[in-house]
Amino acid sequence: MRFKPMGPDVYGAASPKDLLLAIEEDGDALHDLVDQHVISIQPFRAHTLLQLFRLAAKYESNPERYTSHNTPLKGKILINAFYEPSTRTRLSFDSAWHRLGGDSINITDRSTTGLAKGESYEDVAHMFNNYGDCIVLRDGDSNAVYSMADTLRVPIINAGNGIDEHPTQAMADLYTILKWRPSLVASKVSPGERVRIGVVGIPSRMRTVRSLLRILAKFPQIVEELVLIHDPAKNAAEELFDPGQLEELQQAGLNVRCTGDLQGEIPGLDVIYINAIAWVGDSYEVHGNSFRLTRDLPYKPNAIVLHPLARGPELSTCLDDTPHNWYFSQARGAVFLRMALLTCMVDRTNRVMDVI
Ligand code: CP
Repeated sequence: MRFKPMGPDVYGAASPKDLLLAIEEDGDALHDLVDQHVISIQPFRAHTLLQLFRLAAKYESNPERYTSHNTPLKGKILINAFYEPSTRTRLSFDSAWHRLGGDSINITDRSTTGLAKGESYEDVAHMFNNYGDCIVLRDGDSNAVYSMADTLRVPIINAGNGIDEHPTQAMADLYTILKWRPSLVASKVSPGERVRIGVVGIPSRMRTVRSLLRILAKFPQIVEELVLIHDPAKNAAEELFDPGQLEELQQAGLNVRCTGDLQGEIPGLDVIYINAIAWVGDSYEVHGNSFRLTRDLPYKPNAIVLHPLARGPELSTCLDDTPHNWYFSQARGAVFLRMALLTCMVDRTNRVMDVI
């Protein structure tokens, strides 16, 4: 049996080259990321993020150029420490690092480490300083990444800390949206070109949603309206947002509206982002049981569906072979986004900026 070839009909018609051409190069802005911890999306400037997306698009436009002829991370070691389950984030960071010529150490089970004997995160960080050049950490304890960051002399990336944040997922999400519509990177986006984004989820419980809303708040000029679609049983803003969370988005210029009516909103949405899982401590919650995206809903012809995955019943597999499926493209693009981020964080951009 032959494998099924990947094509735009399967993975969304993402165009990294169009995005690459739409963003004017400013390599100096990438220096903002050198030796930076990436714990929250909050400190990053929109301009720096656009340059990061440009480098990701450069990688994605011509992956062979970097992976076979140029190995910018040669001699560097990544410590990929995942104390909570992951398919995409751990493997895509590992894939990104290896594609650029680096070596990695993976930890996938807390019980095999000193943490199981009561060792502190600070002491683990002291050891990580000796073993690697960059750390990726996923831990259900939202404070773990902060405890390590204070001690580390190498940069750390938060790959999901409980219900708090997942900043590189948000970067990958916005990177996907900009590949879908590169005209959104213009400094002035006319009202007619702005997009209406529906987010199905709970910002106070879902780290992907919290980080996505924060990154969108850095680009309010591209968002006509942010429609937060929640379980109809949760209708009070105080159930959906942490104190100050909604105000932070509104003060940044995001036009946010909340509703429980997914079906009624679909005809007006350009981007539909759906998530159902919230990691809390050592387990997970599933929200929005009444929601299910199927292929027969009245989507706009060019509307795209995004999902950070893992998939549950809220995202029917019958959408997979429709042009609305951009969630596989979103997961694929995350590898290139992470390649770009890692290259910047360990200060190896000089090895790739002149290539192409
Ligand atoms: N998107 C995401 O965080 O997926 P994983 O849990 O598989 O890493």
